[in-house]
Amino acid sequence: MYYPEEVIEEVRSRSDIVAVVSARVRLSKRGSDYWGCCPFHNEKTPSFKVSPSRQMYHCFGCGAGGNVISFLMAYDNSSFQEALEQLAGAAGITLPQREQSESEKQEESLRTRLLEINAEAARRFFYQLREAQGEQGRKYLEGRGLSRETMRRFGLGYAVPEQKSLFEYLRSKGFREEDIQSAGLARIRERGASDMFRERVIYPIMDRRSRVIGFGGRLLGPGEPKYLNSPQTPVFDKRRNLYGLHLARASRRGYFILCEGYMDVIALHQAGFDCAVATLGTALTPEQTALLKRYTTKIILTYDSDAAGVKAAMRAIPLLLDEGIEVKVLNMRPYKDPDECIVHEGAEAFEERIAKADNYFLYQTDVWKQAYDLQDPTERTAYHRKLAEELSRFDDRLERDNYLASVCARQGIAEAPLREMMDRIGNRRAGQPKPAPADPDGDVSEEQLQLKQTRADGGLVAAEQTLLAWACSSGLSAGQLSSLLREEDFRAELHRAIFRRILADREAGRKTVPAALVSACLENEEEARQTAAVFTHALPEDLSAQERERILTENLRRLRRRSLDEALREAAGDPVRMQKIIREMKELPRLTVAGEKP
Ligand code: UTP
Ligand code: MN
Repeated sequence: MYYPEEVIEEVRSRSDIVAVVSARVRLSKRGSDYWGCCPFHNEKTPSFKVSPSRQMYHCFGCGAGGNVISFLMAYDNSSFQEALEQLAGAAGITLPQREQSESEKQEESLRTRLLEINAEAARRFFYQLREAQGEQGRKYLEGRGLSRETMRRFGLGYAVPEQKSLFEYLRSKGFREEDIQSAGLARIRERGASDMFRERVIYPIMDRRSRVIGFGGRLLGPGEPKYLNSPQTPVFDKRRNLYGLHLARASRRGYFILCEGYMDVIALHQAGFDCAVATLGTALTPEQTALLKRYTTKIILTYDSDAAGVKAAMRAIPLLLDEGIEVKVLNMRPYKDPDECIVHEGAEAFEERIAKADNYFLYQTDVWKQAYDLQDPTERTAYHRKLAEELSRFDDRLERDNYLASVCARQGIAEAPLREMMDRIGNRRAGQPKPAPADPDGDVSEEQLQLKQTRADGGLVAAEQTLLAWACSSGLSAGQLSSLLREEDFRAELHRAIFRRILADREAGRKTVPAALVSACLENEEEARQTAAVFTHALPEDLSAQERERILTENLRRLRRRSLDEALREAAGDPVRMQKIIREMKELPRLTVAGEKP
């Protein structure tokens, strides 16, 4: 990670989680904890708990949980770096400069210079739109229904017709010719420099931290190309950014609207849909999909209703589904795109269209249908076979049946024969080895899978959590702890790692701070959540000593028994080892967590 652990821990321990959360969520005190309505899912009765003693939060409704850093990351949708910077700033801590190599430094300073140039250019365009020379641009944008406030919020601007107005302006500000060229704002030829953007309205493109990374410029009238965009530069990669993300990331709507054009995003935001973002003139990329996943689990596709838009939507759907994002598709007909739709029908009608957005699968069945001539029996059969094939891909029986029913109702097909065909295909497929799911960086989901599996196995996960929380707070030495519990008693790799950490801390005479453990895995949201979950399973403080002892002992024996059972299976054929394990099993009823204080 970017910073040494001690620095992260200093920032964390000097930021009070109750203060940070209550600045954003209404909390009330009950006992020693604070409760409120969870900001991460919709609820009316509070199940979101903030513990000042543990400096952690946990939602009993949706399972969200973590420390003050992960709270800010989740609430503001910010990166670890951003959250840490924000907390450090508030606590008056100066973060150390990271060590950089010479080439990293050069690269970094080029990027800094380009961002400065972009910011200066955006300011220039912005003022030109508002001055006399920007009248044409203003008229154009007003003609498209944009308010002053919307133009300001998106930083819209105007580039004058003169050949090198911006270039000279940037030179006068002291920027270097080659940097202006690298920023993609001017071309320098033998005959001199010429501005890239001339006589166009300008849409600055911001990254998610609101830094200007590039520009789109639109002609005021007909002509080609309609939009001109910044070329790829060290700060601008159109495959890795999304237009409008810097605003949409703060949206509280709980879903994102994904569309194709700058104007669509702007019109949607103006109409109150502050969760709209757009790709930047290319098909949706895996990088953008991963970026979206950081902010939302639900996307409504509002691509253009022409053939190109439908094709783009059909390509985007599987990408989004692969990331585990829920996808719906909005029908914009008879309009071409969201902008036109809103201009003609207004925000309320659009809200209704959102409520009626199509399930992605049903949408696909309509699109597939267009490839067949349904009057022709052969083609109609081929279409039904296509449906059966796609339906048979749903792993879950119930889901498959539900989709079958909806598809049949929508397409006017008899259910029984289609089910038969679907089952036949499904059975044939079941005989074949299952293809591994598309998974670009395997280890993460592997781990999540493991956690899911452990979650499925009854109360044993809770037993692991309770014992870990206890081990962390108990006064036992490393030696005493390891005489009671072993690493293999824990199934989740994450739990093993926490146990190792507790032992190591004990040996070094350090205290293990639960909230600090969360910091170590913040890059992985699921892990942070699981780590926090461990400590919400600590036994309540008001239990009597006997009761505490009884529960801990019971959990301890269950975990030990599971490991011993397994060891015994593995030792089959090795009588010496088997005997040793059996002896340990016989000892189990005498294993206790005795006289241990919380
Ligand atoms: P559209 O032509 O649908 O854009 O192209 P739009 O926003 O609806 O345009 P208006 O309403 O006519 O102003 C979708 C996107 O494709 C990229 C732009 O990012 C645009 O927003 N594009 C389009 C270009 O880069 N260059 C072009 O010439 C056209
Ligand atoms: Mn348009």
